Amino acid sequence: MTERQILVAANWKMNGTLEAIRPLVDAIIRGVQGISNEVAICPPSVYISELTTLLNGSEIRLGAQNVSHLEKGAFTGEISISMLSDFACQYVIVGHSERRALYAETDVLVAEKFKAVQSGGMTSILCVGELLEERESNDTEKVIARQIDAVIEKAGIEAFKNAVIAYEPVWAIGTGKTATPEQAQEVHEFIRLRLARHDNQTADNVRILYGGSVKADNAEQLFKMADIDGGLIGGASLVAEDFLTICKAMR
Ligand code: PGA
Repeated sequence: MTERQILVAANWKMNGTLEAIRPLVDAIIRGVQGISNEVAICPPSVYISELTTLLNGSEIRLGAQNVSHLEKGAFTGEISISMLSDFACQYVIVGHSERRALYAETDVLVAEKFKAVQSGGMTSILCVGELLEERESNDTEKVIARQIDAVIEKAGIEAFKNAVIAYEPVWAIGTGKTATPEQAQEVHEFIRLRLARHDNQTADNVRILYGGSVKADNAEQLFKMADIDGGLIGGASLVAEDFLTICKAMR
């Protein structure tokens, strides 16, 4: 079995000010020195340039929260892959449930974004996850399979050689209701098996993060599970001390 390095990625969402992020980044840089887990920060896009400067010389990777699937043109408010490439951006979150729910991003659009990130030489953090009513009606696997298959169909299984998946049950995001490690593990294993239908090696290598109310006091329990390879952290990533505890959580 492959030894997958834990990745802890901060998703700041639409939070922070220039004044607030400088000391936060500074504390994170100092706090993660020497740790073996990989750490990434996905700030609001207007701060990507600032973070490129702040993270210069540190091991922390930079990511974006969203990107257009199109190259350029008359698309007011959108940001392209090549713009992200101008900075030291390595990761791009695609298909976050907030984008799916609030900005009507479909499985097909998410797959197109995934493909655009891939073509631009960056790494997608592809978010998938079920709604509470879907879990309650036992449709979790059906929903996850649909979301994953849409991307495989458009981008091909090869694209997952350089991709990260984040399982984020929608009912756990920002609610304080974390999935139990067992609940999360069950879905992570399902995702890996879904990829293994196409290619065992890719399925074995891909990192699957858990997201949804990961906190300083539950991260380690989650990361200990066989198919959980780190976390995508919202609320807790805005508080240096909490985020650092999560960054240091071991298998
Ligand atoms: P949360 O958000 O940690 O605040 O639940 C996670 C996410 O949406 O990525």
